[in-house]
Amino acid sequence: MGREGSSWFTLRWSDAGVVLLDQRRLPEEEVYVTLPTVEAVAEAIENMTVRGAPAIGCAAALGVARAAHVSEATDVAGLHKDVEAACARLATTRPTAVNLFWALGQMADCARAVAVGSDPERLRAALLERAQAILEDDVARCRAIGAAALPLVPDAARILTHCNAGGLATGGYGTALGVVRAAHEAGRRVQVLADETRPFLQGARLTAWELDRDDIPVTVLTDNMAGHLMRRGEVDLVVVGADRIAANGDVANKIGTYSVAVLAREHGIPFYVAAPHSTIDLDTPDGEAIPIEERGREEVADFGGRPVLPLGVPVRHPAFDVTPARLVTAIVTETGICRAPYGRSLESLLKRP
Ligand code: MRU
Repeated sequence: MGREGSSWFTLRWSDAGVVLLDQRRLPEEEVYVTLPTVEAVAEAIENMTVRGAPAIGCAAALGVARAAHVSEATDVAGLHKDVEAACARLATTRPTAVNLFWALGQMADCARAVAVGSDPERLRAALLERAQAILEDDVARCRAIGAAALPLVPDAARILTHCNAGGLATGGYGTALGVVRAAHEAGRRVQVLADETRPFLQGARLTAWELDRDDIPVTVLTDNMAGHLMRRGEVDLVVVGADRIAANGDVANKIGTYSVAVLAREHGIPFYVAAPHSTIDLDTPDGEAIPIEERGREEVADFGGRPVLPLGVPVRHPAFDVTPARLVTAIVTETGICRAPYGRSLESLLKRP
């Protein structure tokens, strides 16, 4: 789901299983898959059928609800065990996006709130309701991020983004692309410059697809063009999403984000991070402590299914990097804009009722 009334959606519940738009097949094909088990949901997160920090959290929540739905347990104690196993499996899927662990925590709390001895159907219903609420709430939070960012986005802004932090990466609407959508809906003639985002091409395949579907002007560039365009004065601001924001304001996001932030600083261009509270992890003190996922060789060694380097030559594949807080102009959340010093501003933001 992009703007109001768009015909596509990222994920939803159905009685047959968790339904996901298969993002591996975009932009060529718009195919929805229905996943009947928590194992299938876990594999879909691992293989990037669904990806993007908030969307991973929403998929995991629906996966836990699904595990309870199909569980053969006849009492709450048995269901508690199955929910625990589902959470444990989902927690192994991807390490960097903290939204996954936040959503699993929500589901575990929800399960614990239904006492042993209660009707197991009550627990099944409570888990589904919580998962649906996480999903709906995520969309509302993205809209609020967009609204909060409006003062930062001038008319006719040329906005560079990296990876996909759009409706496809969230319950809908998007974080970085939520900023774009809100400005577009407010009548500002924004244009997006989408880094293609090697190696998985989330920018070229996904950001371009969803903005094009919503008739928001988008131009794709290869990652190594950003500096050239910035130097020529063709970028007004950068907005990216985040997989985890540490307590000191260091930001983990898709590999290549750090380079964009360094370039933005060099050229005096504001570098904004848009993320919901569920991405802020006050238990992680700084970027050094954020686990960085390493993915498989083929994502780097192949392009479009064909090898692009000699067989056997090693590749590197960290999937994320950390942008130090000093390069971040502001962090836009659903309850307002944080600025440095982030240690203080993030903490007071999360403590606010
Ligand atoms: O590997 P991915 O595609 O899951 O990485 C996604 C990103 O890095 C996004 O920018 C981030 O999750 C924020 S999504 C709102």
